Amino acid sequence: MVVRILVAYATRNGSTGEIAHAAGRELSAAGHAVDVAELKTISTLAGYNAVVMGGPLYMGSIDDAVGKYKDQLAHLPVAAFGVGLAPVSKDAKQMVESMKALHASVAPLQPVAETLFAGKLDPSRLSFVQRKMTEFVKSPVGDFRDWNAIAAWAKELPGKMKL
Ligand SMILES: Cc1cc2nc3c(=O)[nH]c(=O)nc-3n(C[C@H](O)[C@H](O)[C@H](O)COP(=O)(O)O)c2cc1C
Repeated sequence: MVVRILVAYATRNGSTGEIAHAAGRELSAAGHAVDVAELKTISTLAGYNAVVMGGPLYMGSIDDAVGKYKDQLAHLPVAAFGVGLAPVSKDAKQMVESMKALHASVAPLQPVAETLFAGKLDPSRLSFVQRKMTEFVKSPVGDFRDWNAIAAWAKELPGKMKL
């Protein structure tokens, strides 16, 4: 049987979507049928055997990648990733708070795997207000995405999801 996996993501500035596509490529390479889609373009989860969801961190919260689908997801294996600059800071307190935010965004689902990936901050793509906010908190600027770490995480998902 072909296993169908959905990688659903939320994004404001694109970096989470690119991570979702990278994870999707890894799952396809493992022989699964994979769709990668922004949550707002998805109309049903019917037909999927597993779902990977990802959302960016903004102001301490994760943009919800699955929201209205939580009821349907209660019966499927799910995995979740958050994307932000907290992993770049390597600040333990920020990491704990960010993991809590990720948990909260997927609760009451119990993902087989949850992780935070370092994201990207490109000030030229931000609104004036967003830019001022990131300057105020002295956010690191740049693309910190670790494609090897993303691929390695995705590679382990089918086993963890018992697919
Ligand atoms: C206004 C603003 C607030 C942010 N707040 C957080 C935050 O609370 N924690 C964090 O780790 N990263 C934070 N970030 C960094 C984003 O999560 C990071 O840029 C991420 O890669 C954005 O994902 P996207 O491109 O998919 O929207 C913030 C970025 C902006 C512009």
